[in-house]
Amino acid sequence: MAWGPLLPRLRGVGALALLLVLAVLLMAYTAHQQVRQPSRRGGDQVFDARHVAEHQTRHVLFFNRVPKCGSEMLVLLLQWLQARNGFRHMRLKNTVKRYLTFDQQAALVEEIGERVQESTEPRVSFDRHVYFTNFTSYGFKMPIYLNLVRDPVEKMASRFYYARATPRPGAATPPGYTSPAPPHYTSLEECLRYQDPECTFLTGHHYDLTIPYFCGHEDFCRYIFYTCILQGIAGRVRRKT
Ligand SMILES: *[C@@H]1O[C@H](CO)[C@@H](O)[C@H](O)[C@H]1NC(C)=O
Repeated sequence: MAWGPLLPRLRGVGALALLLVLAVLLMAYTAHQQVRQPSRRGGDQVFDARHVAEHQTRHVLFFNRVPKCGSEMLVLLLQWLQARNGFRHMRLKNTVKRYLTFDQQAALVEEIGERVQESTEPRVSFDRHVYFTNFTSYGFKMPIYLNLVRDPVEKMASRFYYARATPRPGAATPPGYTSPAPPHYTSLEECLRYQDPECTFLTGHHYDLTIPYFCGHEDFCRYIFYTCILQGIAGRVRRKT
């Protein structure tokens, strides 16, 4: 058992815990406060109360979780807090598909709309790994979006080792799925050194990165435009070791 690769991950856990505490504080705050700030004229407006009132549903929270950033823990917290804080948490099915077609996005928006209407609890929250979906485009008000992010290098390392360590028993696999071939390398550093396709980001390809969870399902949100992202990551991993 090599402990070297585990150490950066343990440091990541500390950072994650801090992020989680911040997220929960923010949730508790938004749950109990009304929007008070009036919109400021001119300048760049961070917060526009009228816009929120017109376009957002303040009693619906949507955690469209970025993978490998501690989202499992945050979902657990949402479930623990629901009774105490007077809201209901609902887990959306289908955790595999993050990129949706126009029709699939419409179905997602409708599903959330229906479940909000059926809910006996007026305040509800949802979670699902899915790219940012614009509810307004489908004639619905926007929910309050919530997410959790993480240092991109830590995230990439986490995904690399997770793919090796966790067979995900019981997880739904899409039809036609075959288990990947055994990995060539045991450490991310090694993988980067050999520029293995498994840890290489190529121009014109798309990968399940963080940006589309905030940007959307469009091509320009999902594709890598510059391979330099790889050089940036490789440089930082090397410096750490
Ligand atoms: C959502 O879509 C509406 C209408 O298509 C557009 O006006 C709005 O800017 C979009 N919002 C975001 C956050 O993309």
